[in-house]
Amino acid sequence: MTDRYAVFGHPIAHSKSPLIHAAFARQTGQDMTYEAILAPKDGFADSVAQFIAAGGRGANVTVPFKEQAFALASRLSPRAEQAGAVNTLTFDAGSIRGDNTDGAGLVADLTRNLHCLPGGRRILLLGAGGAARGVIEPLLDLRPAEFVIANRTVSRAQELAEQFGRGVVACGFDALHTPFDIVINATAASLAGELPPLSPRVFATDALAYDMMYGRDTPFLGFARAHGAATADGLGMLVEQAAEAFYLWRGVRPDTAPVIAALRQDRLEGESPAASPPRGPRT
Ligand code: ATR
Repeated sequence: MTDRYAVFGHPIAHSKSPLIHAAFARQTGQDMTYEAILAPKDGFADSVAQFIAAGGRGANVTVPFKEQAFALASRLSPRAEQAGAVNTLTFDAGSIRGDNTDGAGLVADLTRNLHCLPGGRRILLLGAGGAARGVIEPLLDLRPAEFVIANRTVSRAQELAEQFGRGVVACGFDALHTPFDIVINATAASLAGELPPLSPRVFATDALAYDMMYGRDTPFLGFARAHGAATADGLGMLVEQAAEAFYLWRGVRPDTAPVIAALRQDRLEGESPAASPPRGPRT
Protein backbone atom coordinates (compact mmCIF):
# COMPACT_ATOMS: atom_id res chain seq x y z
CA MET A 1 0.00 0.00 0.00
CA THR A 2 1.25 3.48 -0.83
CA ASP A 3 2.40 5.32 2.31
CA ARG A 4 0.79 8.67 3.00
CA TYR A 5 2.52 11.81 4.25
CA ALA A 6 1.36 15.41 4.52
CA VAL A 7 2.24 18.91 5.60
CA PHE A 8 -0.11 20.68 8.01
CA GLY A 9 -0.31 24.46 8.15
CA HIS A 10 -2.58 27.47 8.05
CA PRO A 11 -2.26 28.88 5.44
CA ILE A 12 -0.83 26.03 3.38
CA ALA A 13 -1.55 26.83 -0.28
CA HIS A 14 1.92 28.37 -0.66
CA SER A 15 3.75 25.27 0.55
CA LYS A 16 6.42 23.85 -1.72
CA SER A 17 6.76 20.74 0.44
CA PRO A 18 4.46 18.55 -1.73
CA LEU A 19 6.60 19.38 -4.78
CA ILE A 20 9.82 18.74 -2.90
CA HIS A 21 8.75 15.41 -1.42
CA ALA A 22 7.27 14.25 -4.72
CA ALA A 23 10.64 14.97 -6.32
CA PHE A 24 12.47 13.08 -3.55
CA ALA A 25 10.09 10.11 -3.91
CA ARG A 26 10.60 9.97 -7.69
CA GLN A 27 14.34 10.24 -7.31
CA THR A 28 14.62 7.47 -4.70
CA GLY A 29 11.83 5.21 -5.99
CA GLN A 30 9.77 5.44 -2.77
CA ASP A 31 6.12 4.43 -2.94
CA MET A 32 4.48 7.34 -1.12
CA THR A 33 2.16 10.31 -1.48
CA TYR A 34 2.55 13.73 0.14
CA GLU A 35 -0.29 16.22 0.36
CA ALA A 36 -0.89 19.66 1.87
CA ILE A 37 -3.56 19.79 4.57
CA LEU A 38 -5.12 23.05 5.73
CA ALA A 39 -5.85 22.42 9.42
CA PRO A 40 -8.28 24.77 11.15
CA LYS A 41 -6.39 27.13 13.47
CA ASP A 42 -8.15 25.57 16.47
CA GLY A 43 -8.19 22.04 15.09
CA PHE A 44 -4.63 20.92 14.51
CA ALA A 45 -4.70 17.86 16.81
CA ASP A 46 -8.03 16.68 15.34
CA SER A 47 -6.70 17.06 11.81
CA VAL A 48 -3.63 15.01 12.65
CA ALA A 49 -5.77 12.33 14.36
CA GLN A 50 -7.93 12.05 11.23
CA PHE A 51 -4.86 11.73 9.06
CA ILE A 52 -3.44 8.97 11.28
CA ALA A 53 -6.80 7.15 11.23
CA ALA A 54 -6.75 7.35 7.44
CA GLY A 55 -3.34 5.64 7.37
CA GLY A 56 -0.95 8.61 7.53
CA ARG A 57 2.65 7.58 8.30
CA GLY A 58 4.20 10.97 8.96
CA ALA A 59 3.76 14.71 8.59
CA ASN A 60 5.54 17.99 8.41
CA VAL A 61 4.19 20.87 10.42
CA THR A 62 4.48 24.52 9.57
CA VAL A 63 3.19 27.88 10.80
CA PRO A 64 1.32 28.22 13.14
CA PHE A 65 1.37 24.66 14.48
CA LYS A 66 4.99 23.87 15.38
CA GLU A 67 4.47 24.45 19.11
CA GLN A 68 1.21 22.46 19.06
CA ALA A 69 3.02 19.62 17.32
CA PHE A 70 5.61 19.76 20.10
CA ALA A 71 2.80 19.33 22.67
CA LEU A 72 1.12 16.59 20.65
CA ALA A 73 4.15 14.33 20.28
CA SER A 74 4.35 11.40 22.66
CA ARG A 75 8.13 11.21 22.16
CA LEU A 76 10.53 14.02 21.28
CA SER A 77 14.02 13.98 19.78
CA PRO A 78 16.69 15.94 21.69
CA ARG A 79 16.79 18.54 18.90
CA ALA A 80 13.01 19.03 19.11
CA GLU A 81 13.32 19.45 22.88
CA GLN A 82 15.99 22.12 22.36
CA ALA A 83 14.01 23.92 19.67
CA GLY A 84 10.77 23.83 21.66
CA ALA A 85 9.01 23.14 18.38
CA VAL A 86 8.36 20.22 16.06
CA ASN A 87 8.32 20.31 12.27
CA THR A 88 8.35 16.55 11.61
CA LEU A 89 6.00 13.92 13.03
CA THR A 90 6.29 10.17 12.56
CA PHE A 91 3.29 7.96 13.31
CA ASP A 92 4.18 4.49 14.37
CA ALA A 93 2.16 1.84 16.23
CA GLY A 94 0.10 4.33 18.20
CA SER A 95 2.99 6.64 19.04
CA ILE A 96 3.68 10.11 17.65
CA ARG A 97 7.35 10.93 17.42
CA GLY A 98 8.28 14.62 17.14
CA ASP A 99 11.51 15.90 15.64
CA ASN A 100 12.82 19.20 14.35
CA THR A 101 14.86 19.21 11.15
CA ASP A 102 15.04 22.99 10.65
CA GLY A 103 18.44 23.46 12.26
CA ALA A 104 19.91 20.48 10.43
CA GLY A 105 18.47 21.97 7.22
CA LEU A 106 20.21 25.29 7.78
CA VAL A 107 23.50 23.64 8.68
CA ALA A 108 23.33 21.38 5.60
CA ASP A 109 22.62 24.35 3.35
CA LEU A 110 25.46 26.40 4.83
CA THR A 111 28.04 23.65 4.79
CA ARG A 112 27.16 21.47 1.78
CA ASN A 113 25.53 23.87 -0.65
CA LEU A 114 27.16 27.17 0.24
CA HIS A 115 30.50 25.70 1.35
CA CYS A 116 30.44 28.00 4.36
CA LEU A 117 31.98 26.33 7.41
CA PRO A 118 30.81 27.97 10.65
CA GLY A 119 33.53 26.30 12.78
CA GLY A 120 35.82 29.03 14.17
CA ARG A 121 33.78 31.80 12.54
CA ARG A 122 31.82 34.65 14.12
CA ILE A 123 28.06 34.11 13.81
CA LEU A 124 25.41 36.77 14.30
CA LEU A 125 21.82 35.52 14.56
CA LEU A 126 19.14 38.17 14.14
CA GLY A 127 15.85 37.44 15.91
CA ALA A 128 14.79 35.52 19.00
CA GLY A 129 11.50 33.92 17.97
CA GLY A 130 10.75 30.33 17.06
CA ALA A 131 12.71 30.46 13.81
CA ALA A 132 15.86 31.59 15.61
CA ARG A 133 15.51 29.18 18.51
CA GLY A 134 15.32 26.15 16.22
CA VAL A 135 18.73 26.73 14.66
CA ILE A 136 20.84 27.74 17.68
CA GLU A 137 21.92 24.34 18.99
CA PRO A 138 22.93 22.86 15.59
CA LEU A 139 24.96 26.00 14.84
CA LEU A 140 26.66 25.90 18.25
CA ASP A 141 27.56 22.26 17.61
CA LEU A 142 29.77 23.50 14.73
CA ARG A 143 31.84 25.41 17.31
CA PRO A 144 31.78 28.98 16.03
CA ALA A 145 34.36 31.37 17.52
CA GLU A 146 31.60 33.73 18.56
CA PHE A 147 27.81 33.46 18.68
CA VAL A 148 25.71 36.58 19.18
CA ILE A 149 21.91 36.78 19.17
CA ALA A 150 20.56 40.26 18.49
CA ASN A 151 16.89 41.07 18.85
CA ARG A 152 14.64 44.11 18.84
CA THR A 153 13.32 43.03 22.25
CA VAL A 154 16.60 42.38 24.03
CA SER A 155 15.04 40.35 26.86
CA ARG A 156 13.97 37.62 24.39
CA ALA A 157 17.55 37.32 23.12
CA GLN A 158 18.76 37.18 26.73
CA GLU A 159 16.36 34.36 27.53
CA LEU A 160 17.75 32.33 24.64
CA ALA A 161 21.35 33.07 25.62
CA GLU A 162 20.59 31.85 29.14
CA GLN A 163 18.81 28.76 27.88
CA PHE A 164 21.60 27.69 25.55
CA GLY A 165 24.62 28.92 27.53
CA ARG A 166 27.82 27.83 25.73
CA GLY A 167 29.11 31.40 25.52
CA VAL A 168 26.13 32.76 23.60
CA VAL A 169 25.92 36.55 23.87
CA ALA A 170 22.66 38.52 23.64
CA CYS A 171 22.18 42.15 22.69
CA GLY A 172 20.02 44.71 20.90
CA PHE A 173 20.64 45.88 17.34
CA ASP A 174 22.14 49.17 18.52
CA ALA A 175 24.93 47.32 20.34
CA LEU A 176 26.24 45.70 17.14
CA HIS A 177 29.40 47.42 15.95
CA THR A 178 31.83 44.57 15.28
CA PRO A 179 32.15 42.38 12.17
CA PHE A 180 30.73 38.87 11.78
CA ASP A 181 31.52 36.21 9.19
CA ILE A 182 27.99 34.80 9.01
CA VAL A 183 24.90 36.95 9.59
CA ILE A 184 21.63 35.01 9.68
CA ASN A 185 18.30 36.80 9.53
CA ALA A 186 15.72 34.81 11.50
CA THR A 187 13.49 37.81 12.22
CA ALA A 188 10.05 38.24 10.72
CA ALA A 189 11.17 41.61 9.27
CA SER A 190 11.59 40.25 5.74
CA LEU A 191 7.99 39.06 5.75
CA ALA A 192 6.88 42.65 6.19
CA GLY A 193 9.43 43.91 3.64
CA GLU A 194 11.37 45.56 6.48
CA LEU A 195 15.04 45.75 7.35
CA PRO A 196 16.19 45.15 10.94
CA PRO A 197 18.02 48.30 12.12
CA LEU A 198 21.51 46.98 11.45
CA SER A 199 24.86 48.69 11.24
CA PRO A 200 26.68 47.83 7.98
CA ARG A 201 29.71 47.19 10.17
CA VAL A 202 28.33 43.76 11.09
CA PHE A 203 29.48 42.38 7.73
CA ALA A 204 33.11 41.27 7.81
CA THR A 205 35.08 41.13 4.59
CA ASP A 206 33.83 37.99 2.80
CA ALA A 207 30.82 37.73 5.12
CA LEU A 208 27.84 35.59 4.19
CA ALA A 209 24.41 37.09 4.82
CA TYR A 210 21.70 34.44 5.03
CA ASP A 211 17.97 35.19 5.07
CA MET A 212 15.75 32.35 6.22
CA MET A 213 13.01 33.68 4.00
CA TYR A 214 13.02 32.40 0.46
CA GLY A 215 11.50 33.25 -2.86
CA ARG A 216 12.19 36.95 -3.03
CA ASP A 217 15.04 39.37 -2.58
CA THR A 218 14.64 40.86 0.89
CA PRO A 219 15.70 44.31 2.18
CA PHE A 220 18.19 42.46 4.41
CA LEU A 221 19.86 40.72 1.47
CA GLY A 222 19.91 43.95 -0.55
CA PHE A 223 21.48 45.80 2.38
CA ALA A 224 24.07 43.06 2.90
CA ARG A 225 24.96 42.99 -0.78
CA ALA A 226 25.35 46.76 -0.84
CA HIS A 227 27.90 46.39 1.94
CA GLY A 228 29.97 43.73 0.27
CA ALA A 229 28.51 40.51 1.70
CA ALA A 230 27.72 37.38 -0.26
CA THR A 231 24.04 36.50 0.11
CA ALA A 232 21.79 33.45 0.25
CA ASP A 233 18.06 33.01 0.78
CA GLY A 234 16.36 30.18 2.68
CA LEU A 235 15.39 28.00 -0.27
CA GLY A 236 18.28 25.61 0.32
CA MET A 237 17.31 25.33 3.98
CA LEU A 238 13.75 24.54 2.99
CA VAL A 239 14.86 21.67 0.77
CA GLU A 240 17.45 20.42 3.25
CA GLN A 241 15.02 20.29 6.19
CA ALA A 242 12.66 18.36 3.92
CA ALA A 243 15.46 15.94 3.01
CA GLU A 244 16.17 15.35 6.69
CA ALA A 245 12.47 14.62 7.33
CA PHE A 246 12.41 12.30 4.31
CA TYR A 247 15.40 10.46 5.73
CA LEU A 248 13.68 10.06 9.12
CA TRP A 249 10.63 8.54 7.44
CA ARG A 250 12.15 6.49 4.64
CA GLY A 251 15.76 5.84 5.71
CA VAL A 252 17.01 7.17 2.36
CA ARG A 253 18.83 10.45 1.75
CA PRO A 254 17.67 12.18 -1.41
CA ASP A 255 20.03 14.25 -3.55
CA THR A 256 18.96 17.81 -2.79
CA ALA A 257 21.01 19.70 -5.40
CA PRO A 258 18.77 18.96 -8.42
CA VAL A 259 15.65 19.73 -6.38
CA ILE A 260 17.03 23.10 -5.25
CA ALA A 261 18.05 23.89 -8.83
CA ALA A 262 14.62 22.94 -10.17
CA LEU A 263 12.84 25.06 -7.55
CA ARG A 264 15.05 28.04 -8.37
CA GLN A 265 14.09 27.69 -12.00
CA ASP A 266 10.44 27.05 -11.10
CA ARG A 267 10.45 23.79 -13.01
CA LEU A 268 9.51 21.19 -10.40
CA GLU A 269 6.81 18.87 -11.65
CA GLY A 270 3.34 19.42 -10.23
CA GLU A 271 1.28 22.49 -9.68
CA SER A 272 3.43 25.45 -8.77
CA PRO A 273 2.16 27.38 -5.76
CA ALA A 274 1.43 30.99 -6.65
CA ALA A 275 0.93 32.59 -3.24
CA SER A 276 3.70 34.68 -1.74
CA PRO A 277 6.22 32.50 0.01
CA PRO A 278 6.70 32.49 3.76
CA ARG A 279 9.89 33.03 5.67
CA GLY A 280 12.46 30.55 6.54
CA PRO A 281 12.13 27.00 7.62
CA ARG A 282 8.61 27.03 6.39
CA THR A 283 7.76 23.68 5.08
P1 ATR B 1 8.89 33.11 14.44
O1 ATR B 1 8.38 31.94 15.21
O2 ATR B 1 8.53 33.09 13.01
O3 ATR B 1 10.32 33.36 14.67
P2 ATR B 1 8.11 35.10 16.33
O4 ATR B 1 8.32 34.15 17.45
O5 ATR B 1 6.92 36.00 16.33
O6 ATR B 1 8.07 34.37 14.95
O7 ATR B 1 9.43 36.00 16.22
C1 ATR B 1 9.58 37.00 15.28
C2 ATR B 1 10.98 37.58 15.39
O8 ATR B 1 11.16 38.61 14.41
C3 ATR B 1 11.24 38.25 16.72
O9 ATR B 1 12.61 38.11 17.01
C4 ATR B 1 10.89 39.71 16.43
O10 ATR B 1 11.47 40.63 17.30
P3 ATR B 1 10.76 40.94 18.72
O11 ATR B 1 11.07 39.76 19.60
O12 ATR B 1 11.39 42.18 19.19
O13 ATR B 1 9.29 41.08 18.42
C5 ATR B 1 11.47 39.84 15.06
N1 ATR B 1 10.95 40.93 14.24
C6 ATR B 1 9.72 41.04 13.69
N2 ATR B 1 9.61 42.14 12.93
C7 ATR B 1 10.81 42.77 13.01
C8 ATR B 1 11.35 43.98 12.45
N3 ATR B 1 10.62 44.76 11.65
N4 ATR B 1 12.63 44.31 12.74
C9 ATR B 1 13.37 43.50 13.54
N5 ATR B 1 12.92 42.37 14.11
C10 ATR B 1 11.66 42.00 13.84
